[in-house]
Formats: sequence, structure tokens, C-alpha cells
Amino acid sequence: MQFIVAIDGPAAAGKGTVARAVAAEFGFAHLDTGLLYRAVGAKAMMRGRGVIVAEIATEIAQGLTEDDLTREGLRTARVAQAASKVAALPAVRAALLDFQKAFAKREGGAVLDGRDIGTVICPEAEVKLYVTASDEVRAERRYQELKAKKPETKLETVRIDLQQRDIRDASRDVAPMRAPDDALLLDTSELSIDAAVAEAVALVTKRFEKA
Ligand code: DC
Repeated sequence: MQFIVAIDGPAAAGKGTVARAVAAEFGFAHLDTGLLYRAVGAKAMMRGRGVIVAEIATEIAQGLTEDDLTREGLRTARVAQAASKVAALPAVRAALLDFQKAFAKREGGAVLDGRDIGTVICPEAEVKLYVTASDEVRAERRYQELKAKKPETKLETVRIDLQQRDIRDASRDVAPMRAPDDALLLDTSELSIDAAVAEAVALVTKRFEKA
């Protein structure tokens, strides 16, 4: 049985949390596609000594391994910026396409979260969600997460990081971040995690019973 749940949205809106919960509830496999771009961005920064070179980033994306996805340090703000930059390169996105499509079509169901899942990777997904939250709520959430690992983190820096990434991710030419026309919008600004997850699970249940 194939069943695809596509979850898109900007950073720190809660899509990862919702994706993990839906995957656990239905026993589906989960792929955080942001991690692919983070892994490419982190390696490209290292190889380019802090500068991203398109050819190097493309080569890295073409040779990405599972091990690259489990390396330490992929969750920092610096790597997030690098991820957003390499994600704007068409050749990098092209190199990561087949892996994501194959993951989505695996037997037993799959949940993928990212920026272009419902629009480009899996336009045929049975369920599409677009998870958002206000800029302030997202900045505060990401600030709390990052501060736990790095106490000197500043809220203002986090706010700027998210804003820069949102603009870059939404305005690039290839696979820009946007809500698919047929997606259910889930604004988590004033929703608890449990309530957001419950809404997502209810929608998946409805579609799953029909499938
Ligand atoms: O979801 P995240 O914050 O870990 O993603 C990091 C960056 O990767 C994000 O700023 C844009 C890019 N990305 C993308 O372009 N397409 C995806 N499907 C997932 C992430």
C-alpha cells in the first residue's frame, strides 16, 4: 500500500512535529527533507571554507549518503542559512529529487515534510498540509530550541535568520516555498502541539479510510 502525506511550510511552524506525530500514529516512514539540504549546505560550507560554490554543492548533493544525514551540528542557524542557499540551486534540487520521490512511494506509507513536497515532489499525495504560524511565534519557538543548546542565542538574530530564509525560500525560481492549492492550511500560532497533531491526524484518517 502506498499513501503519501505531504507537509510543507516555513521554518519553525511546527511541520516537523506534526510530520513525526502523523508518521508514528499511522506507522508511516518519515523524511525530513530539510535535513537533505542542511547536509549539503554544511558540507559545502566546509569544502568551500565558508563560501558556497555551486559546482561543489551539486557534487555533494549527487553523492549524499545516509551517514551525512545523521552528522552532528545540522540544526544550527548557520547550517540553516547554508541549506537555504544551496536549496536555491536548481542542480542541487535536481540531484535530490529521485531519492525523495522513491522515499514517498515506499510500501507502507510515507510522510515527507519540506517546502515543495505538495507542489513538486509529490503533487499526487493523498494528503497535503501547509503548516504556518505567525513570524513572532515561529521566532520565539526557534529561539527557545536554539537557546537550549547555545545559551548566548539572541531572539533578534533568530528572527532575522527566519525572515531571510523565508524570503529566499519563497522567491527562488525553482520549487519556491508555497502552499499547494489543494492543501489544508494549519495555522499553529494559537494551537497547542496536541491540537495541531489532532487536526492533522483527523484529516489523514478521513483520507486513509477512503484510500
Ligand atoms: O526545514 P528546514 O528548516 O530544516 O530546511 C532548511 C532549508 O532547506 C530551508 O530554509 C529551505 C530548504 N528546503 C527546501 O528548499 N526544500 C525542502 N523540501 C526542504 C528544505
